[in-house]
Amino acid sequence: MIKRMGRAAGLRGWTLCGWMLAAGAIAGCDGPEGMDPDAGQPTAFDEQVARGASLFGMHCAHCHGADGRGGINEAPPLVGLDEGALPLEPRPGAVRDTRFVTVGDIAAFAAVNMPADAPGTLEVDEYYAVLAFALFANGIELEEELTPALAEELVIPR
Ligand code: HEC
Repeated sequence: MIKRMGRAAGLRGWTLCGWMLAAGAIAGCDGPEGMDPDAGQPTAFDEQVARGASLFGMHCAHCHGADGRGGINEAPPLVGLDEGALPLEPRPGAVRDTRFVTVGDIAAFAAVNMPADAPGTLEVDEYYAVLAFALFANGIELEEELTPALAEELVIPR
């Protein structure tokens, strides 16, 4: 089973678990798990997501919500792309002045500006772990760990 999303195709499957292409697909949605020799074994991505979930709980959830859907301390949602989360353009009046084209763009913003009450205080790998968790919470699983290089290649579907 191909797990990693096609890079050229970007993240077109972000909210669509059934989406699959020859170039790549989303793991853990509806694929033939029985044929996956790695099924049942936590992958590097799984472990990154678990770490990210813990970090999110400590550093982000008190504003972005335990479920990532925002609403506390004026924090916008990070989960629910189909409902307008993480829009391409900054919202009117936002601190953010960059576009979110790739996952790397989100990482660049978050690493400098988040947590809003202690900007830049996480380690780089911690930001990527939190972002891996955010991908997972949006219904995406990657075949490999989310690295800065991979994040630059993953285009958010619009
Ligand atoms: C003290 C509250 C607070 C905390 C804690 C916090 N955020 Fe935020 N976050 C905000 C606010 C407010 C915004 C909107 C910023 C703006 O105006 O652009 C935001 C925006 C964001 C955005 C951009 C969303 C968008 O739609 O533009 C991301 C990504 C993000 N936060 C990630 C994180 C992560 C990851 C953490 C934890 C490491 C975190 N935030 C912790 C309040 C918070």
